Amino acid sequence: MKIVRTIAELRAALAGSGSVGLVPTMGALHDGHVSLFRAARAENDVVVASLFVNPAQFGDDADLAAYPRDEDGDVRKAADAGVDVLFAPALEEIYPDGFQTWVEVEGVSRGLEGDARPGHFRAVATVCLKLFNIVRPERAYFGQKDAQQAAVVRRLVRDLDLPVQIRVLPTIRDDDGLAISSRNVRLSPAERAAAVALPRALGRGAEEHRAGGDAAAAARAALNGLSPDYVELLDLDGVLVLASAVRVGSTRLIDNVLLKGELS
Ligand code: PAJ
Repeated sequence: MKIVRTIAELRAALAGSGSVGLVPTMGALHDGHVSLFRAARAENDVVVASLFVNPAQFGDDADLAAYPRDEDGDVRKAADAGVDVLFAPALEEIYPDGFQTWVEVEGVSRGLEGDARPGHFRAVATVCLKLFNIVRPERAYFGQKDAQQAAVVRRLVRDLDLPVQIRVLPTIRDDDGLAISSRNVRLSPAERAAAVALPRALGRGAEEHRAGGDAAAAARAALNGLSPDYVELLDLDGVLVLASAVRVGSTRLIDNVLLKGELS
């Protein structure tokens, strides 16, 4: 696996290669990221993973500062999963002096994470557009775990006629059902045990939806003491999702289940 830090090095590494699959990440790689690398490996001649903690998409400096970083571990995991090129740029490579252009996806960026984190999806859309332009992949891979993000990226690609196919893959979970997340390392053992109520509550909501009842109310009632930022139904361009964000101690966790349609 080649590690490249500049756009020029990346372009040189990809010159003359066949189909390229891109997996954008912020590092602290785990089995969720690895599932995206493997999907990209199966469908493309060359797999590029980007590793860039995008400051613009963090609401507050404390969250950004606390974001886990482990480049050595990331290099190992990406190489083991068959990544060919790891693009790990410095901040100035992505946001050079004087940077002032942002792309905003309107409708699907509103509500839920968009309301809880103002400016978040503008920054995600902008960095993804930049990565698509830098890497020029045939396919790019995202997780259903961040369902609203995936919908924002899909919309961006459609609205701006970007020549990339977006694949959205299922959420990878620990054995007890908790969605794997870079933020899970911040949970104490007691918090980790309490956090399982989130996927269980979403499962309960999906059951209620199938029975014709109120999915969000059923999920809210099953949170077992976790404090919700929101538990809501979200219509992502025709795909219906039950999504929730909760606080477990000082850690914010998000998860969702599909109620109708497919994100992929
Ligand atoms: P990050 O949180 O590192 O996630 C990178 C990709 O991994 C996202 O598409 C996310 O949905 C996916 N992912 C995370 N946890 C997953 C899980 N348990 N199962 C399956 N996929 C999972 O999301 C971002 O980075 C950033 O916003 C980014 C798109 C890189 C833009 O900066």
